[in-house]
Amino acid sequence: MKKILSFALSCVLSIGVLAACGGQADEEKVTLVMGTSADYPPYEFIDTAVSDEIIGFDIDIANYIADQLGFELEIQDMDFNGLVPALTNNRIDFVLAGMTPTPERLENVDFSDIYYVAEQTIVFNAEKGYTSLEDLEGKKLGVQLGSIQVELANEIAEEIGGIEILERNRITDLIQEIKTGRIDAAIIEDTVGKGHIEANPELTSFVIVEENEAGSAIAFPKGSELKDEFNKVLQEMVDNGEMDRLIMKWFYGEE
Ligand code: ARG
Repeated sequence: MKKILSFALSCVLSIGVLAACGGQADEEKVTLVMGTSADYPPYEFIDTAVSDEIIGFDIDIANYIADQLGFELEIQDMDFNGLVPALTNNRIDFVLAGMTPTPERLENVDFSDIYYVAEQTIVFNAEKGYTSLEDLEGKKLGVQLGSIQVELANEIAEEIGGIEILERNRITDLIQEIKTGRIDAAIIEDTVGKGHIEANPELTSFVIVEENEAGSAIAFPKGSELKDEFNKVLQEMVDNGEMDRLIMKWFYGEE
């Protein structure tokens, strides 16, 4: 009994046994577990006014791909910093979390093709009146722990004197602390910052001009066979207009 149970479980948990499970129950779909960090509207977030469900651009992409490939989808929410470890421990099958493929991450995980490219912005209380990075001299600059924004903050701090970098688990913590004044400004992606600024009219932002653009891609455990299958569907979504439709829906508020 135990054996049967653990076999059934392993079908759910591991895509590695996909072939073995397929023969068992033709009707049953294999469940893929996706990791995300649902603090990142419009990529992934919970609109508490509506429900406790995670929604967003990445969620729609994941559902579309799972649907096309015939998988059931389960979503696990965790801190952004825990996503790569969860992949390397094979606790999840893939990550959709607006994650940027960086050389450091590529040492531990594989990435799909880039599906969206955004810009980095400095978000702050409009009263501060910042207009350029120079204005951040001697200021407290917030970033999400484990994100590429940490690196960018370090680069900025090398150029501009006296910046103190504060790392937080959640973007919502950064926004809260900007509002209370504990943090002077935070580095947040344009599309994500935009939503928070709309919800908090006292906040504003400007764009950081960067050489390295920050694209988003899907992450997999190293060597995962899902990567090629997912890339195929991503390309289909670009070709058939589905990707543009989702970009308009989530980033420009048009259905
Ligand atoms: N693109 C940035 C990175 O990869 C930030 C992503 C943060 N995502 C999130 N769901 N909080 O580091």
